[in-house]
Amino acid sequence: MEANEMLLYEHKIIYSLLKKLQTKIEEMKKTKEVQGSFIDLLTDFFMTYIDVYHHGKEENIMFERLKKKNLTQKHKDSMDLLLKQHELGRKLTEKIIKTTAEYFKGRTTQIDELIKILEEFKKLYIEHAEFEDNHFFKEALEYFSSKEKEQLIQDFFKFNIRMVDEKYKNLIEII
Ligand SMILES: [Fe+2]
Ligand SMILES: [Fe+2]
Repeated sequence: MEANEMLLYEHKIIYSLLKKLQTKIEEMKKTKEVQGSFIDLLTDFFMTYIDVYHHGKEENIMFERLKKKNLTQKHKDSMDLLLKQHELGRKLTEKIIKTTAEYFKGRTTQIDELIKILEEFKKLYIEHAEFEDNHFFKEALEYFSSKEKEQLIQDFFKFNIRMVDEKYKNLIEII
């Protein structure tokens, strides 16, 4: 397995979530109602799976090592854009949580605002993951030697194992 294949596999899981999100958006447009349990799952998915687990490998392992390479301006700009999009994803998730809370406080007019943010979130991640899948990852890997690529994948696996340990260690704290 190559390092980008692991990230591509994670994108497939993210695309499945975005497909579900699209169905939920259609439902919300028809019913003008929000399912709180879905928003809880969506925001947890973002914070745990996308932001810690997936972005964690991209930002803390792959991008950190790329920064030490002699990147072309085009690749520097692409990496900056990807980091900005991760940040925007975090901001949108915060907005989703806030707007949902407003909605449940009885301000039903917030539903259209929430739909707008969810659509923005979906669009952002589709564009983001497609750019990484089809352009950035393939080009980025060319900066690494075979040995460095091997190290990258090994460190991705180590990161995944550590993440599961952390999750269950934290769970013990709240039992
Ligand atoms: Fe990313
Ligand atoms: Fe990604």
